[in-house]
Amino acid sequence: MRTRLPEGFLWGLATSAYQIEGAPDADGKGPSIWDSFCKVPGNIRNGESGEVAIDHYRRYRSDVALMRDLGAQAYRFSISWPRIFPQGDGPPNPAGLDFYTRLVDELLAAGIRPLATLYHWDLPQSLEDRFGGWQARETAEAFARYAGFVARHLSDRVTDFFTINEFRSFVDMGYQGLEVAVGGRTVRIRLAPGLALDRKGLAQVRHNALLGHGLAVQAIRAEGRRDVQVGPAENVEVPVPAVATPANIVAARRALRHLNAPYLTAMLEGAYDAEWLKSEGEAAPQVEPGDMAAIGAPVDIVGLNIYRPSAYVVADDSPRGWRALRLNPSHPRMDSAWHLLDPEALHWGPRLVHEVWQPKSLLITEHGCAAKDAPGPDGEVHDTDRVMYLRAGMAALARAIEAGAPVHGCFFWSAFDNFEWTDGLQRRFGLVHVDFATQLRTPKLSARWFGASAAANAIL
Ligand code: FCB
Repeated sequence: MRTRLPEGFLWGLATSAYQIEGAPDADGKGPSIWDSFCKVPGNIRNGESGEVAIDHYRRYRSDVALMRDLGAQAYRFSISWPRIFPQGDGPPNPAGLDFYTRLVDELLAAGIRPLATLYHWDLPQSLEDRFGGWQARETAEAFARYAGFVARHLSDRVTDFFTINEFRSFVDMGYQGLEVAVGGRTVRIRLAPGLALDRKGLAQVRHNALLGHGLAVQAIRAEGRRDVQVGPAENVEVPVPAVATPANIVAARRALRHLNAPYLTAMLEGAYDAEWLKSEGEAAPQVEPGDMAAIGAPVDIVGLNIYRPSAYVVADDSPRGWRALRLNPSHPRMDSAWHLLDPEALHWGPRLVHEVWQPKSLLITEHGCAAKDAPGPDGEVHDTDRVMYLRAGMAALARAIEAGAPVHGCFFWSAFDNFEWTDGLQRRFGLVHVDFATQLRTPKLSARWFGASAAANAIL
């Protein structure tokens, strides 16, 4: 029997600007911290960069046509802040805005609903140089002005806006570096701008990023031309009850609030969790009057990027009521060092978020995996492992929806193979294969799975 998704469920594809566009200097764009970071030897595998990526800036028309042919109903893309404000603030660049206007028109003409993310990590370099990027409130304030400007110009055709993509990733890995255990050894992952702040410095960056989100929510509502849907897109930390007993499910709810304390918990509760603040001690961020009200500004959608679970948890009699189990080293993985394979994340993520915070609407804003894809002698790419991964994840998501989680769509990461940050061009996440030398696009088996499932609104 095939599992159906609820009526109106959106089957979408996702990308981000720096990972696909290329054209870093075109039409007045200013440099971003990713343009700079990629130039430093050693930062990116094989010294690669997003300088060309998949040349989407020039090929967006045929890329949209391809997504239409694949059966995409919606497309989540990101807007490059330094294309619109080359210096981050100051005068806007009309040619930059024009690119997104044309992209949105093309999507609408193709019958694809556009959803725009305002910050997917490509901070204008000028804000980094002048203020230390997100270390300063000036960046949060500039972000809100940029978000309001975009809403004013695009909200007649774009209804859904995500403020910031994955706070935890660009803050923790960009401003401190994050240690990740990979098969018995520990590697330190760094993203742009590649700083190594202390705990106090990092806490302030976290706070300023949350403030940027909150001020942007307010600016988008104020400047939008009609009612828009606004929210964050966060890589929620997902605890999985080790054995789903009632006591362990209660423990998982507690773990969810704790593990997400610096980001989602603060945004959705409009306050920092007391236990977390206590544990931060001297390092707790400096909070100005009014900040928490802005950070907790009501949102219409919560976007969840879900790739893997964070921990298996059980109830215990400690004051916090739960503990995490050590994950077995043989827990299976997909083709990235960090990528534990566990479809249960797509069940417990949305389900626990619903049970703890009752948001109005949830979207899975990213779900996908890397695989070792290469066209075979027949020119086809049979990414059977990705089909397995997506099918299993969607079945788990369907169970979360049955349990009451208001999930209205899923955006697969990614539409196309692209520039995967420090992993460079070799880590392929696309449903469409891209030959980076020729820019030839070849839909993989997973793209066929996606199109057929979207058309049937069922997991095929
Ligand atoms: C997410 C990022 C996205 C992509 C995927 C694989 O953390 O938001 O840009 O890199 O991981």
